[in-house]
Amino acid sequence: MAEQSPKPPLRAQDFAAVRDWPGYFGAVLGKPPRETLVAALEAFEREGQKTGLAVDLGAGEGRDTLELLRRGWRVVATDGHPEAFKHLWPRVPQDQRDRLTTEEVSFADTRIPACDLVNASFALPFCEPRDFPTLWGRIVAAIRPGGRFAGQLFGDRDSWAVLPDRSHQSEDEARRLFAGFELEQFKVEEKDETPEVRNPKHWHVFHIVARKL
Ligand SMILES: C[S@@+](CC[C@H](N)C(=O)[O-])C[C@H]1O[C@@H](n2cnc3c(N)ncnc32)[C@H](O)[C@@H]1O
Repeated sequence: MAEQSPKPPLRAQDFAAVRDWPGYFGAVLGKPPRETLVAALEAFEREGQKTGLAVDLGAGEGRDTLELLRRGWRVVATDGHPEAFKHLWPRVPQDQRDRLTTEEVSFADTRIPACDLVNASFALPFCEPRDFPTLWGRIVAAIRPGGRFAGQLFGDRDSWAVLPDRSHQSEDEARRLFAGFELEQFKVEEKDETPEVRNPKHWHVFHIVARKL
């Protein structure tokens, strides 16, 4: 009998594809902050704003929340999965803990306080389509004029766009969500993965930093 070659290892996205969030948290633990977050923070710094209040939606194990805290921001981190914050809290330095609030809540029930920054890294596509318009309205309402949104939306040509529980937008739809914002970054990433990886997919992602007018 021919020997079967071992399957390629599971990657973070293989867990995300099936909403296995504990598997995802384990796969990304310790990764650096997302580039969209860093770009937004650098834009604030260029304007002379070093800190403020950020809401990190779908914060996961906390890669972005940790960076915000490290830079002196106050953070409300939300996530729907109970294990997210079990990974986060032990990694928050003692002298930064009083600047962090965590809330276990679904996107459907998320209330967003008025803030300088809403960060949603690779999170909003996992919002149920029926809940997306309300959530988006809350995001827009919460960001103060001059504040920012940073994060990703997934496009309509992404492999996961066919999954019924996901929120994807065409590029036009995504751009229209930012009426009332200046788009400081709108990078379209579209690529096919090579067949050697486990579950190769087509990526269609918008990497966004936007300043509210
Ligand atoms: C792909 S992960 C992204 C995590 C983190 N922001 C990052 O950049 O790695 C998506 C996150 O959204 C959360 N999530 C998924 N569906 C959700 C929902 N309906 N309500 C609230 N959070 C949800 C998951 O628990 C997970 O932490």
